[in-house]
Amino acid sequence: MPTDAITLNPTDSHHSLTIAPPNGGFCLRGKIQIPGDKSISHRALMLGALASGETIIHGLLLGEDPRSTAHCFRAMGAKISELNTDRVTVQGIGLGQLQEPTDVLDSGNSGTTMRLMLGLLASHPGRFFTVTGDASLRSRPMLRVIKPLQEMGAQIWHRSGGYAPLAVQGQALKPIHYQSPIASAQVKSCILLAGLLTEGKTTVTEPALSRDHSERMLRAFGAEITVDPETCSATVTGSAQLHGQTVIVPGDISSAAFWMVAAAIVPGSDLTIENVGVNPTRTGILEVLQQMEADVTLENEREVAGEPVADVHVRHSQLKACTIAGDVIPRLIDEIPILAVAATCAEGTTVIKDAAELRVKESDRIAVMAAQLIQMGATVTELPDGLEITGKTPLHGAELDSHTDHRIAMSLAIAALIANGQTVIHRAEAAGISYPDFVPTLVRVSG
Ligand code: S3P
Repeated sequence: MPTDAITLNPTDSHHSLTIAPPNGGFCLRGKIQIPGDKSISHRALMLGALASGETIIHGLLLGEDPRSTAHCFRAMGAKISELNTDRVTVQGIGLGQLQEPTDVLDSGNSGTTMRLMLGLLASHPGRFFTVTGDASLRSRPMLRVIKPLQEMGAQIWHRSGGYAPLAVQGQALKPIHYQSPIASAQVKSCILLAGLLTEGKTTVTEPALSRDHSERMLRAFGAEITVDPETCSATVTGSAQLHGQTVIVPGDISSAAFWMVAAAIVPGSDLTIENVGVNPTRTGILEVLQQMEADVTLENEREVAGEPVADVHVRHSQLKACTIAGDVIPRLIDEIPILAVAATCAEGTTVIKDAAELRVKESDRIAVMAAQLIQMGATVTELPDGLEITGKTPLHGAELDSHTDHRIAMSLAIAALIANGQTVIHRAEAAGISYPDFVPTLVRVSG
């Protein structure tokens, strides 16, 4: 590959990523190690901070989002080692012992940090907390967690419309059975964490099962928690003590998804993505790619520290369009931007429905992906709750923008690999939220 085919151009505050396919195009081959799972990383830091004793975390995601979580919990008394090695340690302070921070808790770009943390803050009687985030997070809806917490007796103040900055006066809460109108692991986890510090049994029922990493990890740390997959319910019993654990974080299937789609759509590709977490609440992407007739196989399937893991082998093949809707949506919600790229290469019309949640992610992922793919020549119609994409269309290089959304930045970089001509992606540094080594990895495997 010519050395200038993929270049990152730093400016003062933002980086633009330029991708210019060489004659004959790129071809992705070899083995890839992906960063630790973002959802599991947040939970390991939080439960480690709440537990008594030491928690040792291997494979933590060293991205911006977990750094926001570590920063907040350090400010409330947990001793968390620097996030710069494969082994991160957390000296917990014990359940119910979070200290009142002397400054605003800054969740950065991380919805998981803010929403999960709110359940804990609201249930710490006698402490006062203020919480904020970056411009994207301050525009994301918080009433989805504030309302059920208020039902439990929480005192929370917010900007009009339910946006951060927020203020929380911790209270002794009462348990509830919350029927969540949306399948959201952030909502479910927020209420379960509040329930951990609330006497009695707190239950959350969802319309479809969202990722269950909180339930698994709470159990591993010694909490009393039961789940009923039939009714999509989880119940936690309050006032338990948590005990520090060793956590091994699997690779993030949401990060692996970029390489899965890249290998599926770039001719001649043959990639193995190692150590991918394949928890069934996250594997919608595998099912959809198989439905699209991608050549995807799981190898070396195993269980590591309570989470299923496998190597994912993907080879280029001709994709077919499909419909992505219903209960699978929460199991691939973060992978829809990259699946939209795959759909531009699939024969027929791919319809993505029931995914209105995408409009309130780090960006409005429906509007942003539609606009950016149209700029590259794709045939895309925006739906209120999804996208309709007709393939296969040849993409051409264009000047694009991540809208500071990590998953948009990386999805567009993969689209650029198959485009004719040069693509420039502005604000590409957003990838560092969940994948700090994305660009070096792209350079390495696309040789
Ligand atoms: C997450 C849950 C999902 C997901 C987000 C991480 C989590 O959000 O999109 O990236 O770690 O609980 P929702 O709960 O809003 O669907």
